[in-house]
Amino acid sequence: MRPPGGFEPHNFQAERELKRGRTAVIVGAQWGDEGKGKIVDVLTRSFQVVARYAGGHNAGHTVIIHGKKFILQLVPGGILRPECTSVIGNGVVLDPLAFLKEVGSLRDAGVKVDGNLFVSNRAQVILPYHRMMELGSENAPGRVKIGTTSRGIGPSYEDKIARRGLRVADLLDTPLLRTHIENACREKNMIAHALFNSDPLDADKMFKEYAEAAEKIRPFVRDTALLLNRALAEGKSIVFEGAQGTMLDIDHGTYPFVTSSSSTSGGAVTGTGVPPTAIDTVIGITKAYCTRVGGGPFPSELLGVEGEDLRKRGNEFGAVTGRPRRTGWLDLPLLRYAGMINGISWLVVTKLDVLDHLTEIPVCVGYNVDGKQTDEVPAQACGYEKIDPIYRNMPGWATPTQNMKTIDQLPKAAREYLSFIEKETGARVGMISTGPDREQTILVDDFVQELGLEKN
Ligand code: GDP
Ligand code: IMO
Ligand code: MG
Repeated sequence: MRPPGGFEPHNFQAERELKRGRTAVIVGAQWGDEGKGKIVDVLTRSFQVVARYAGGHNAGHTVIIHGKKFILQLVPGGILRPECTSVIGNGVVLDPLAFLKEVGSLRDAGVKVDGNLFVSNRAQVILPYHRMMELGSENAPGRVKIGTTSRGIGPSYEDKIARRGLRVADLLDTPLLRTHIENACREKNMIAHALFNSDPLDADKMFKEYAEAAEKIRPFVRDTALLLNRALAEGKSIVFEGAQGTMLDIDHGTYPFVTSSSSTSGGAVTGTGVPPTAIDTVIGITKAYCTRVGGGPFPSELLGVEGEDLRKRGNEFGAVTGRPRRTGWLDLPLLRYAGMINGISWLVVTKLDVLDHLTEIPVCVGYNVDGKQTDEVPAQACGYEKIDPIYRNMPGWATPTQNMKTIDQLPKAAREYLSFIEKETGARVGMISTGPDREQTILVDDFVQELGLEKN
């Protein structure tokens, strides 16, 4: 039976089997800021759709195109290529005002955002009381301070899981929005006052502001799971853009010093509505060393002058908050763990140039715990305190690599450094980044072939 009105139901399963488009997940293999934004931008030359699957405007993804810098927070990297479709998936928490601000500044910079950018009707909405709850709990005496980005991310995911959140579809439903804001404000104001002595938020003012924002967001809103599955069935290629990184994942990261979403590759499926069978490749992004911003364990952290030097050379300051990032050497046990959790088959090594000055590069090759060597990543934050990292010194290359275009041009020691990472992780290095610009990228032939990329 066909429903009336000429509607043709889709059997995506059958269509996909005939001609499914290529897909790849881009996932941070460390604690975020690995350079995912730059790599997504490079890949979008050969992909037609980019879908963000987790996090919110806690992310800061930097893309530099011929010296012009863009910092994307909610909008996927595909936006910088007008022929690309960009999707904000259901796994994202969307701050309507932050979204409109970002879209506004992209428009001002001459970037096309109309007709090529879509927001899931099932994404959760961040409201001002989420920030109020987060600030209260982060600053409350006696609580473990996570060092969050103060964007309301955690409390918004809390409401999602507790089944009392507001979704984008509800934001567009004005009577529902009013009732939701009134009820939620009453409840949150009481809790925040009792726990943190916070000043109450004005529900009426909030409703007016968000009802107005909703109208500006309405044209972007779609059932993006349908959009993405249709795109796959039509043979279109999709990059799933991760935010944060493996060690910030709510389940697999250094809990409780994590973000509140599934930033690992599994999140690409639940956070967009495509089936697990639609994922072809998982690409892990790692710096040639390691950084983290915020509190929590970091076994290979460098304190003192050495750490400061790496921070300066790598310009390691948060793209969103400007906070200095903690720095350290590459941690191979963590990279192997990221490989296991995400199913990483290809690695992209970024910021290789930041190590250009060194004649020797220490790499953490294993953990010593209570006199025994282990690769096991602790489940508890306190478990990291027992880790005594085992280092191996790799020869440095002490040569600038910034403008090298092929792997053969890289100094021998740099090639050996990359081969060592491959040997130790079992993943292949498909791309190397030797500077922040789109052009400062080396693509490996096999990677280009497997992913069907256009060469430089
Ligand atoms: P993301 O959150 O993973 O997208 O990464 P961020 O944009 O937050 O942080 C990465 C920073 O490193 C940005 O400032 C980039 O411009 C910069 N960057 C990316 N790749 C390279 C590289 O290969 N070399 C250098 N020197 N900087 C890079
Ligand atoms: P991108 O996508 C680096 C960190 C915060 C904090 C913890 C929890 O740019 O790689 P949250 O505000 O999410 O509740 O903070 O997670 N964090 C990030 N660190 N890069 C990010 O994103 C991050 N997003 C959150 O610093 O330690
Ligand atoms: Mg970042």
